[in-house]
Amino acid sequence: MASSSSSTALKPGVHPLTDGPRTTQSMKDDVIHGLSQTPKQLPAKYLYDERGSSLFDDICTLEAYYPTRTEVQILDAHANDMASHVGAEAALVEYGSGTSQKTHRLLEALHDAAAYVPIDIAREHLLAASERIAEAFPELPVFPVWADYTAMVPMPVPADAYTRAVAFYPGSTIGNFLPEQAVSFLKQVRTRVGANGGLLIGADLKKDPDRLRRAYDDPEGVTAAFNKNLLVRLNRELDANFAVDQFRHEARWDAEHSRIEMHLVSQTDQTVQVAGQSFAFEAGASICTEYSHKYTLEGFDALLARADWQRRTTWTDPNRLFSVHYAEPAATEVSDS
Ligand code: AVJ
Repeated sequence: MASSSSSTALKPGVHPLTDGPRTTQSMKDDVIHGLSQTPKQLPAKYLYDERGSSLFDDICTLEAYYPTRTEVQILDAHANDMASHVGAEAALVEYGSGTSQKTHRLLEALHDAAAYVPIDIAREHLLAASERIAEAFPELPVFPVWADYTAMVPMPVPADAYTRAVAFYPGSTIGNFLPEQAVSFLKQVRTRVGANGGLLIGADLKKDPDRLRRAYDDPEGVTAAFNKNLLVRLNRELDANFAVDQFRHEARWDAEHSRIEMHLVSQTDQTVQVAGQSFAFEAGASICTEYSHKYTLEGFDALLARADWQRRTTWTDPNRLFSVHYAEPAATEVSDS
């Protein structure tokens, strides 16, 4: 393709919502499947109903939960450096944009972005955040995409309207994936942004297990409420009859897999009905509701490399609790023509 000398002028403000792929698998099928496995597990994404999302926002302000404020510190301290890596006239594509609060800080440093493309599964949150960003940055075209970003998302911005696409994936949400899944997701992001694209990604770092466990089992009990809310949701939405107080929240450190696991542990022998089916729990048996993998800097570098990304720069806080990485597609032999 010939390089263009002039680019399409995009209208500032919020463009019409792009309807992207969303999983057709129902929550009921996912839940029945997960509870039928040994050990039982449920997809972490179901933690985020309205109450769950607001409890998660509360978690982010807890003293014990260091990741959010530490990542924000890193973004604040290095926003200009990050912006210079992103470059001029870039389209910033955010995977799982939520409230877009972290992006707000990045966009402040990135005063010449061609477009912002927030992708999220929660439609109302996506639209509200898009409006807030458009209001704060009156020159900026915003293209919200309503999609499950684990599928290949469409790119709503015309190709001649930006110089390069840079994916933004803060929060260490990458840690929810098993390493294999993380690699295939990162490969898909690489395909999405193309050979001249970039990736700015947050990753929580491996540390003292006590500190980690405390971050996922805070003294205020907010994370416990967040985890148990999943059962409340199943009772309401799938006609289940979990006795919520017969389950205890537990955060486990799995050293072998370098991950925190959230569990709901049955306190008694009990049988629970979910969508017309029975599930037996022995006392002490649990449902695993979330993985949160923790990486070393070397381990994360290797993960990026497996997904054909070359890490260029890493920023951390003085205590090395959290990391933000900028990477570019690795120069490979003919991967796409
Ligand atoms: C949003 C997936 C990054 O794993 O730290 C916080 C979710 N779970 N406390 C994390 C979470 C319990 C969080 N992520």
